[in-house]
Amino acid sequence: MKVGVIGAGMMGAGIAQVAAAAGHQVVLTDVDSSRAEKGKAGIAKLLDRQMAKGALEPAAAEALLGRIATAGHSDGFADAAIVIEAATENEALKQKIFAGLAGKLSAECLLATNTSSISITMLAAATERPDKFVGLHFFNPVPVMKLVEIIPGLATSDATRSSARSFIQTLGKTSIVSEDSPSFIVNRVLCPMLNEAIFALGEGVGSVEDIDTGLRLGANHPMGPLTLADFVGLDTLHAIMLVMQKATGDPKYRPAPLLSKYVEAGWYGRKTGRGFYDYSGEKPVPTR
Ligand code: 3HC
Repeated sequence: MKVGVIGAGMMGAGIAQVAAAAGHQVVLTDVDSSRAEKGKAGIAKLLDRQMAKGALEPAAAEALLGRIATAGHSDGFADAAIVIEAATENEALKQKIFAGLAGKLSAECLLATNTSSISITMLAAATERPDKFVGLHFFNPVPVMKLVEIIPGLATSDATRSSARSFIQTLGKTSIVSEDSPSFIVNRVLCPMLNEAIFALGEGVGSVEDIDTGLRLGANHPMGPLTLADFVGLDTLHAIMLVMQKATGDPKYRPAPLLSKYVEAGWYGRKTGRGFYDYSGEKPVPTR
């Protein structure tokens, strides 16, 4: 089947990669074709690493990349069976993207969003097909993480839920179903934990290294919470906490002041080269 992906950043490129690896034809788009190409080049780099390890045959890598077309617009979506939006975590931007798709998809096409926290019901209402709209929440790094959350909105039909489940199965991932509640299941639990680690850092409870080592070795997490926050993106984490705080009115979800400060400074973590670690050298160096 044909899969459209909107947004060629970390998440969109990852979704494009796993869809192409599953044998689907993919159209990867972004605001302009050079950004979409950059996303595809990132996929090629990851495949090179797998080939170097002997985990992927060059012919398979070439075939996978051959299944990913790139574009700077949504014209290639006319015969797509599903289009997945993975743009920045911003409500107005996502609504604008969905409004721009009107008339460009087939009547049967499913529309999905990879939002990590915004109401699916509300985003669906901005489209011409709320019954065919569903949340599909992937995790970073998409090629490695085995889970996808399926979030039906109020208007999502049973047929759409079941098609979404079948599609996720074709990707070899496990799906769980979450109610359309702020941040769904995983981020509802995970993001306050990351935010709490930043509160602890800001209050001087421990250093970056000690907080991370603590959770890695004391709770068997694969990455410490500050490393993971940098990995997810501090801007994204901040946006998720704000959505949770606004939607519930509960002050327990307020972003840690230090998180807000880092976002104000433009220190978004790995993607900007600086967050709780400095990524300019060969190895990440803790900054506090
Ligand atoms: N992209 C693709 N593949 C990657 C990758 C990346 N960015 N980083 C690592 N990998 C692959 C490696 O190639 C390797 O593959 P192989 O087993 O086939 O050789 C495998 O992952 C393991 O990598 P490494 O041995 O280099 O490193 P680790 O063993 O330390 O694993 C990790 C790296 C998988 C990222 C691990 O540290 C981990 O699981 N971290 C936690 C990730 C997590 O919690 N993600 C969820 C974030 S929340 C989210 O995404 C929701 C959003 O809405 C905020």
